[in-house]
Amino acid sequence: MYGCDINPLAVLLSKVKFTKISPDKLLETRKAFRNSLYDFIKKEQNIEVLSHPQITNIDFWFSKKVIKNLTVMKYFIDKIKNENIRNFFLVPFSETVRECSYTRNNEFKLFRMKSEELLNFNPDVIGVYFKKFDNAFSYYKNFYLPKLEDITKVEIKYDKFNSADKHFDVVLTSPPYGDSHTTVAYGQFSALSNEWLGIDYARKIDSMLMGGQKLKENIKAGVVADFVSKIDSVE
Ligand SMILES: C[S@@+](CC[C@H](N)C(=O)[O-])C[C@H]1O[C@@H](n2cnc3c(N)ncnc32)[C@H](O)[C@@H]1O
Repeated sequence: MYGCDINPLAVLLSKVKFTKISPDKLLETRKAFRNSLYDFIKKEQNIEVLSHPQITNIDFWFSKKVIKNLTVMKYFIDKIKNENIRNFFLVPFSETVRECSYTRNNEFKLFRMKSEELLNFNPDVIGVYFKKFDNAFSYYKNFYLPKLEDITKVEIKYDKFNSADKHFDVVLTSPPYGDSHTTVAYGQFSALSNEWLGIDYARKIDSMLMGGQKLKENIKAGVVADFVSKIDSVE
């Protein structure tokens, strides 16, 4: 099976769901990760040597305490050698970024909480992470993993779908709506998580999506060209 999405967070989530990982290995790594994390944060000076995350307007979206905890967590996740296990750990991390940020959680667009809500907002970042980890672990172990067979081969990519030399029996798609300004702003929704994951074009994703930019001229090639031209001729 081949999958494609332009949004790196979407690719990460799908990859993890379709990758066989030993649950025992995940739990073993969870234990080591947790111990390293708590050992490290005991000493305030340790945190100062870590490189600063490159997040746009970081202090607008995160408290100092949250930034510290997320930075340490990302540092130890990056140290996990096995790529599949590391990817799994990034899934609850991306959710923790969102939940512990000042974004209003009931919005797809990136809006900050009201100032009176900020005062009482003091999330327990590490607690949130492990709760999300355990939830993801349970879904993975009980729902996704039993469906994966040894012959399951899944390739999921960030880039545009290019299948010139391949044929597919079935194509499944949940197509983009073509207007993330007025509907679900996938780019904005995932911007903070993508930035924490190290994606430098995180803030540009909405404009990269289908319909994200107005074209100067209509598509002229391919089977859709005639239809596009007819639609365009309607006042
Ligand atoms: C309606 S969502 C469907 C998401 C996912 N397939 C699902 O079912 O949850 C549309 C998806 O199309 C992706 N997308 C938009 N334009 C794209 C493009 N030019 N190339 C690849 N993916 C694109 C968006 O990132 C978004 O994840």
